[in-house]
Amino acid sequence: MKKRKIILDCDPGHDDAIAILLAGNHPDIELLGITIESGNQTLAKTGFNALNIVQYLGLNVPVCLGSPEPLIKEVEVCPAIHGESGLDGFDFDPLIRDFDSRHAVTFIIDTILNSIQPVTVVTTGPMTNLALALKLEPKIKLKIDEIVLMGGSYTNGNVTPAAEFNILCDPEAAHIVFTSGCIVKLFGLDVTRKVLVLPEIITRMEKINNSASLFFTKLMKVFNENQKKVFGFEGGPLHDPVTLAYLIDPKIVSMLKVHCDIDLSRGTSYGRTNCDIFDYLKLPKNIEIAVSIDVKKYWDIIEEGIKRYT
Ligand code: BDR
Ligand code: CA
Repeated sequence: MKKRKIILDCDPGHDDAIAILLAGNHPDIELLGITIESGNQTLAKTGFNALNIVQYLGLNVPVCLGSPEPLIKEVEVCPAIHGESGLDGFDFDPLIRDFDSRHAVTFIIDTILNSIQPVTVVTTGPMTNLALALKLEPKIKLKIDEIVLMGGSYTNGNVTPAAEFNILCDPEAAHIVFTSGCIVKLFGLDVTRKVLVLPEIITRMEKINNSASLFFTKLMKVFNENQKKVFGFEGGPLHDPVTLAYLIDPKIVSMLKVHCDIDLSRGTSYGRTNCDIFDYLKLPKNIEIAVSIDVKKYWDIIEEGIKRYT
């Protein structure tokens, strides 16, 4: 079987870190590069975190810095969940790895255009880099296999009643992606809030006792403390790796094709992924949204991913 070629655009971030862990060494996935933007923290911090993650996990992939701010609105970061560093809870060795010199947007465009095989773009942060790439070089649309993203929900938000963090960080970018004509698959809070890092999950992963399990458990303990403080959850929702779990085993979710608009009105629903799941409007269905997830299989995939490290 041909490996699926992916670019991972992210803002690490505790759950982004686990998405990188999964993407980094799966036999069916070739991680072409990691592109970074502001989101969970400023670009300087999310970039630094990404380098630390790849260095610690021993991943030989380019890491490219991208947009320091959303297209139109002001930067919004999330220290309440991810801490001041954006990745509180793990002590990395001094950093030796450096960034690839290419800008994330240039990297996305060139990598996709130069690839013989179509490329899957996975985003687990605001979609500023991808939106810029789509606008700068629309020809990439022909070579994008699909866009697989964590963001939004067809029910409620997690920053406002209506909006999820990644989409609310850059709603205009999300709008560009959703109306691009590419295949867009959305893994939102409706499913990611089903996969909670409960204490028994931490114990299970801790037992693997390798470098990746140490990474997972240390980070998840802090993530959980913060999720408890902010949302009252006993286990934090491990949002971002759902995208990778889907690529590894598409059967773990069920998807629904819907018409979806991003609310750009700047009112109280700004950033909402307005999904017409009952097809009231009879408009063209521009995205697929995940509506259910096999929680047991998800944790099996995470466990197998951790076990592949030494
Ligand atoms: C999303 O927001 C970020 O804080 C997480 O990394 C995830 O991508 C969840 O709403
Ligand atoms: Ca993220």
